[in-house]
Amino acid sequence: MAFPDDRPRRLRRTQALRDLVSQTSLSPSDFILPIFVREGIADPEPIRSLPGVLQHTVESATKMVDEARSLGVRGVMVFGVPFTKDDNGSEAWNRDGIAQVAIRSMRERCGDDLVILADLCLDEYTDHGHCGVLDEYGRVDNDATIDLYRRVACAQATAGVDMVAPSGMMDGQVGAIRRGLDEAGFSETGILAYSVKFASSYYGPFREAVNVEIAEGGDRKAYQQDFRNTRESLREVRLDISEGADMVMVKPAGSYLDLLARVAAESEVPVAAYQVSGEYAMVKAAAERGWIDERGIMLEQLIAIKRAGASVMLTYFALDAARAISST
Ligand code: PBG
Repeated sequence: MAFPDDRPRRLRRTQALRDLVSQTSLSPSDFILPIFVREGIADPEPIRSLPGVLQHTVESATKMVDEARSLGVRGVMVFGVPFTKDDNGSEAWNRDGIAQVAIRSMRERCGDDLVILADLCLDEYTDHGHCGVLDEYGRVDNDATIDLYRRVACAQATAGVDMVAPSGMMDGQVGAIRRGLDEAGFSETGILAYSVKFASSYYGPFREAVNVEIAEGGDRKAYQQDFRNTRESLREVRLDISEGADMVMVKPAGSYLDLLARVAAESEVPVAAYQVSGEYAMVKAAAERGWIDERGIMLEQLIAIKRAGASVMLTYFALDAARAISST
């Protein structure tokens, strides 16, 4: 054949044609902005390994809510960084714990105009840095931990969250929290389950953001998933949905697009993906050196996550991406 019969390039000729046939687009309402609120600081503090992200005071965190809303972002995820930590993480369910105070303040500010979620875990609150309480051998005690998660869920619901987001990877946590919320009269409070959550080196900068160090060089491999596997992810999703998850999450996002696509194909509830701290930090670091185009990479990565099947994306780029989308 002397010339091609089939010419896919016809549809790529102009920007208008490309826009017309594009299959994936980003909207500010796709994003959830993670917000760190730290107790006992007078002014917001930068996080060295997360350029552009701050540990907020309650006041500055509440202002972030206004900024998010004005850009069309529809959700925030609150992480508390308490002043004091103990062996069972009791500040996590203290009525006046930092996360609860911040949630109340944000809710007062925005009414129902923004979805407020809270990360539900103990690692930010325990002095040993694990996501649950330890048994006499120093192992994370699954069933004792989920009892505490119920308390945290009720404290966050009382403070006014729309959804709690359990991230501790304890077996049965979603069911325990669902029952705990229902028994306390919070049947309308939802659960976004971190269902597919890997033991990942990509969480490095987050540990600085929440001042967490795991005792004795420990890790979370006994409860978070092994990144060599795929089968157990689908099992975790199935369990979480059967226990009452209203949404499920895959985390990290960028290195797990294969799983995200599989979960999106099989899940009957909306699927979220978390572009985590390490993913964000790598883009920032390379861009600072002038090695990559930050805006271009940011949008390309978020499009990839959406294209793989995420209906919601948690990302530290939420506000930057919302700005970039509205300016194109
Ligand atoms: C646990 C939690 C973690 C992240 C979100 N929730 C840390 C972990 O499981 O070790 C990581 C988020 C990120 O890296 O951006 N509370």
